[in-house]
Amino acid sequence: MDKIVALCKRRGFVFPSSEIYGGLGSTYDFGHYGVLLKANVKNEWWHAMLSRDDIVALDSAILQHPRVWEASGHLAGFSDPLVDCRTCKARFRADHLGDLQCPQKPSRHPGEGPDCDLTEAREFNLMFETHVGPVKDSASVAYLRPETAQGIFINFKNVLQFARKRPPFGIAQVGKSFRNEITPGNFIFRTREFEQMEMEYFVPPAEAERWYRHWIEERERWYVELGIRPDHLRVRAHGPAELSHYSSDTSDVEYRFPIGWLELEGIANRGDFDLGRHAEFSGERLEYFDQGSGERYVPYVIEPAAGADRATLAFLVDAYDEEEVEGEQRTVLRLHPRLAPVKVAVLPLVRKDGQPELAREAFDALRGTLQAEYDEGGSIGRRYRRQDEIGTPWCVTIDHRSLEDRTVTVRDRDSLAQDRVAIDALPALFAARLAQPWSSPKLAAA
Ligand code: GAP
Repeated sequence: MDKIVALCKRRGFVFPSSEIYGGLGSTYDFGHYGVLLKANVKNEWWHAMLSRDDIVALDSAILQHPRVWEASGHLAGFSDPLVDCRTCKARFRADHLGDLQCPQKPSRHPGEGPDCDLTEAREFNLMFETHVGPVKDSASVAYLRPETAQGIFINFKNVLQFARKRPPFGIAQVGKSFRNEITPGNFIFRTREFEQMEMEYFVPPAEAERWYRHWIEERERWYVELGIRPDHLRVRAHGPAELSHYSSDTSDVEYRFPIGWLELEGIANRGDFDLGRHAEFSGERLEYFDQGSGERYVPYVIEPAAGADRATLAFLVDAYDEEEVEGEQRTVLRLHPRLAPVKVAVLPLVRKDGQPELAREAFDALRGTLQAEYDEGGSIGRRYRRQDEIGTPWCVTIDHRSLEDRTVTVRDRDSLAQDRVAIDALPALFAARLAQPWSSPKLAAA
C-alpha cells in the first residue's frame, strides 16, 4: 500500500488535501491522472447501468430535508461506538480496539498499556451537521448526505411518473457522500468525503430473492471484466449480527487488498423498509399501481452500493506491478485499457529532423477520440517509464523511418512488443484494441 500511495503522489494521481497547511485528516485531492482514472471507473459503472433498458439516472441534492434522515434511521442509528483515551487523547472505535494501535510507544492495542485510561463507549453519529440559511439554530440544522441512496427513495414518485417504468426497474446515482468516520484510513479506502455509485432496483416483493442473486453476480462480474483478478475477489454474505437495520440480506463483494480482504461494495435486500418509512414520514403514497391488474404494492429494493474511490484504489492495487527488463527495474500499472487515464502517448524519438511535427500530426489525429498525451522531453526510456507508471497501454514512437514511409512503432505496455503501423491506421487500431476483452497479465504470470 505504501508503494501505491507513493506512486499516486509521484505521478499526480492523489495528494493529501490541504497539504500546505499540514493536511486535514483523511481527505484527499485527485490530480489529473486520478481524475481521469476515477472518471473512467464511474463511466464504466454508468455504462453497466444505463446500457440496460430498465435503469434510469438521477442526481439528487447533497443537502436534503432533515426529516429524510429521521425516516431513513440515520439520525437515530447511524453511529459508531466511540471511546477516548484520557491519557493520550486519542479516539478509537470501541468495536475495532483489537485492530487498532495506541499512539503511545511501545505499540499496543488501545487499553492494553499501563497508562491507557479509556472512557466508556458512547454512540457518535457519523453525519456531518450544517445549517441552512443565516441563523444557526435547531430549526436550521441540515446534514451532508451520508449515502446517495436516500435521494433515490425520495424521488421514487417523480421518477415513476416521468420514466414510465414498472418494477423491476432501477434508479442509479453517482455522487459525493460524507461520513465523519472515527477511524478513517488506509489512504482512499475510508475517507470522510467520498463518492458512491449506488443503484436502487425496485422489484415485486416475490421477485426480491431472485434479483438479489442477480445483482450479486452482475456486480462481481463487472470488476472481473474490468480486469480485477478473480482470485482477488470474493463474495461474502453478512451474518445476522452484521446486517444493517434496513436489510434482510446483504453480501459484500470483497477485494484482497494488501491489508486484507475488505469490502468493495455491498449488495442488500432492503425490502420495503425505505419506501415504507418515507411514506410514513412524508404522508405520500410511495407504491406501484398496476393499471392493468389493479394491483397496488410497495416494491422491494435490491441495492448494489459501491464506492468510486474504493474501487479506484482496488484497480490501482490490482494493476501495480514491478519487473526487471533488460537488467532495469520498471514499475507498471497494468490497468484495463478502458480504465487507463491516458490511452496513448505520442513520442518523437528526437526533438529534430521533422519528428516533432509528424508526432504532433499523429497526436492531433488521436486526441479528439481518446485521451492521448504528447511528450517530447527527456530520453525515450524515461518517457516510456513515465507512461508505464501511469498505466498508458500504448506508446506511439515516431522515428527517422516515420518521415520516409509514415509508419510508427506502437509499443505495448504489458508485452513490450513493438509493431510497425501506418500513422493513418492508428485511430482505427486503438478503437479496435479498446473494444477487445482484456485480462490482467499478472494472472498469467502467477
Ligand atoms: N446505501 C448503502 C450504503 O451506503 P455502505 O456499505 O455504507 O452502504 C457503500 O456504503 C459503499 O460506499 C461501500 O462498499 C464503500 O465502497 C463506499 N464507502 C462507504 N463508506 C466509505 C468511506 N468512508 N470512504 C470511502 N468509501 C466508502
